[in-house]
Amino acid sequence: DAGKGSYEHYMKKEIHEQSRAIQDCLRGRVDPETNHILLEELAELDLPATVQLVACGTSYHAARYGARLLREHGIAAQTFLASEYRAETVPVDEETLVIGVTQSGETADTMRALREANGAGAVTLALTNTVGSSAARECDHVCYIRAGPEIGVAATKTFASQQVALALVTGVLAETAEPAFLQGLAELPAQIQTVLENSQAQALADAYVDSDAYFFIGREYTAPVALEGALKMKEITYKHAEGFAAGELKHGPLALVTERTPVFALLTEGSRLEKTLGNVKEVQARGAPVIAVTDAPQTVERYVDHVLEVPSTHPYLTPILANIQLQLASYWLANRLGRSIDKPRNLAKSVTVE
Ligand code: G6P
Repeated sequence: DAGKGSYEHYMKKEIHEQSRAIQDCLRGRVDPETNHILLEELAELDLPATVQLVACGTSYHAARYGARLLREHGIAAQTFLASEYRAETVPVDEETLVIGVTQSGETADTMRALREANGAGAVTLALTNTVGSSAARECDHVCYIRAGPEIGVAATKTFASQQVALALVTGVLAETAEPAFLQGLAELPAQIQTVLENSQAQALADAYVDSDAYFFIGREYTAPVALEGALKMKEITYKHAEGFAAGELKHGPLALVTERTPVFALLTEGSRLEKTLGNVKEVQARGAPVIAVTDAPQTVERYVDHVLEVPSTHPYLTPILANIQLQLASYWLANRLGRSIDKPRNLAKSVTVE
């Protein structure tokens, strides 16, 4: 499992492992008979009054997604960058569940936040990929995302697995799960495979390799994916990239938009596609090429320059599919630029200093 096999890079291999990773994450955790989510690890967890999620990097983007999902299920949830978290400045008590989202389970900022939260009386949960990690050992509860080893420094499959695991945790804390959502989860591995087999992202690399910068816009469930798309682009291409909630474009970033700044627009049903289309028109008026990542190609193709299609699914799951298209776009661009994709300069897989 730890070898590169026939893949040129670990990152590419890990992007292609996402279907299997999600199968593993789901295995035995959804009961098709009763439509219930079963996370045995959380059997002893009392339902919290509030939830705080702490994380860094890609895991922070997954945490943003998870917090939105929790709030949509009536659970008060907030996300914090672990490096900015101070248990004394946010209300924490024994009815607060603090979830550390951390692939490695070793990130110093996240560990410090979890320890502080624990010291202030909160209940802690590690959502991690790494059995026996510091987070897994020190937190009151642990939920493994089961993505398998990730060697590429830039996180890929673990982001998808974190999102699915957070959706499962939401189902447990909300004590309910929509049948349509569970159906979507069951179909997700096959849909991921469809995206991987049909993606047109490689063709973009030639067209846009010389661009000045790359922007990513999304809304609601796809807003964290816009942030993640930009982070991936920065990490492995060393090019300037920024992600925004689409509504914020007009409050500053629009000043940067030119014909040399392609915009990746997450135009998906269930994340206010019509409004984001309005933002697309704003950037096109400034000459920017637009690449739509969409589950509604017929609706959007006449407004954009390129379409990266994803299958239709439950709106909570569309971001997972959309993100895979962005991973591939960054991968192919970095490949075209001859970058050190698996070990980008200045970056480490796990950052154990604050
Ligand atoms: C490093 C890695 C990122 C990762 C972040 C958080 O910066 O390069 O890919 O997202 O740490 O890591 P964690 O293990 O806590 O998820």
